[in-house]
Amino acid sequence: MNIIEIIEKKKKGESLTKQEIEWFIDRVVNGSIPDYQTSALLMAICLKGMDKRETTDLALAMAHSGDMFDMSAIGCVVLDKHSTGGVGDKTSLIVGPVMAALGVPVGKMSGRGLGITGGTIDKLDAIPGFSSDLSDEKFMECLKASGFVDAAQTKNLAPADKVLYALRDVTGTVDSIPLIASSIMSKKLASGADAIVLDVKCGNGAFMNDLDSAKQLAETMIDIGNGAGRKCSAVISDMNEPLGYTVGNLLEVKEAVDFLKGVNVNSRLYDLVLTICSEMYILSGRPELNGIDSKERLIRFAKQIVKDVLANGDAYKSFLMFVKGQGGETDFIENELSMDYENIIPSDVMSTDVKAEKDGYISAIRADITGRASMHLGAGRMELDDEIDQYAGVYLKKKIGDEVKAGDVIATLYSSDKDKMNDGVKIFKEAVTITTEKEQVQDGDIIVQIQRFN
Ligand code: URA
Repeated sequence: MNIIEIIEKKKKGESLTKQEIEWFIDRVVNGSIPDYQTSALLMAICLKGMDKRETTDLALAMAHSGDMFDMSAIGCVVLDKHSTGGVGDKTSLIVGPVMAALGVPVGKMSGRGLGITGGTIDKLDAIPGFSSDLSDEKFMECLKASGFVDAAQTKNLAPADKVLYALRDVTGTVDSIPLIASSIMSKKLASGADAIVLDVKCGNGAFMNDLDSAKQLAETMIDIGNGAGRKCSAVISDMNEPLGYTVGNLLEVKEAVDFLKGVNVNSRLYDLVLTICSEMYILSGRPELNGIDSKERLIRFAKQIVKDVLANGDAYKSFLMFVKGQGGETDFIENELSMDYENIIPSDVMSTDVKAEKDGYISAIRADITGRASMHLGAGRMELDDEIDQYAGVYLKKKIGDEVKAGDVIATLYSSDKDKMNDGVKIFKEAVTITTEKEQVQDGDIIVQIQRFN
């Protein structure tokens, strides 16, 4: 086999064999293919695509390029949840504790922020003492003790993806469904969960801007998961507006904690949590589900028990156990985070209110622009080794569809740096549109469930 023939073959739109894909991935990891040839193949895949079998073979070869984590010692179905990346997406911080409270273990490995999208590990870093850098033994210990663990991906998890992603990032080959799907699923397969619920974001703040491509990505990832013997289902959810009220690391932890306590609950976030958690519960195959014969009744049953653990405080208790298990200060969660947003932000951090310039209705708060504003405020990284400002971000006091009067506060922005604040405010103002007439807004998130179990 040789790489030039493989590139030529894909350039003509032919399918690559499993052996060719494995041969390529082996050599990507051992460094024997120069970057220009790897990039040429990535571009050919981007332009000519891959069929279902090739995409699954690629994901599996990438997954097996490093360590394959084994959680079978838990002795029951372990779940994972993955979002394709959004703005203000703190869902994982809520979903994990909810499932743990239901007795369904969630073993998760997460990433840091990427571009305008936040990363769960950066958010968890805002909790004093919390460690996401866990050994395999500590990961399993936390999972057994609290039923939910969220750790940073280990260095040797799908190393082929690290090489390919870095090249895609600089060669205009990120936006390819087979490449995105195999990149995400390689890490999910290597991190070892038996069943995975995928939250595919759709809208201006997501990789997938339209519903058709979001569905295609969801189906491709489900096919890979099923092809690898994992139960898998997907939810497609809206990312035209930031999710919930906050964007930024500590701000999002605070919103998640409030949510788990039933305080200031955003209705779209609630719908999404309910949808994802009920999917996860169904995939867990818990014995309580035996004998429920219709899909509708199954979903109704699962949603009700999710509502119950949120309402009775069990999910919040699980969150505290999870934080404690990974070394985080639960006093901080219980005391400091129970104060208002204004009081949890130290006095030397600047805040600026962005106000409505006219009367009317909020018809847009663009997720992509808000994500960019938040990144400029210091909540994300412009360069790989930038330091995160854990207090920086955007607290939305108005959402799409709300009526405003001139002078009403739409959002409060936080940053520890004056220049960053100025940039962030300028950018955020572009995210907001106020119209005199109330525009037809979507009634709830775009939530499309695609379910396929194997
Ligand atoms: N997230 C990933 O992990 N990979 C991609 O290609 C896109 C989003």
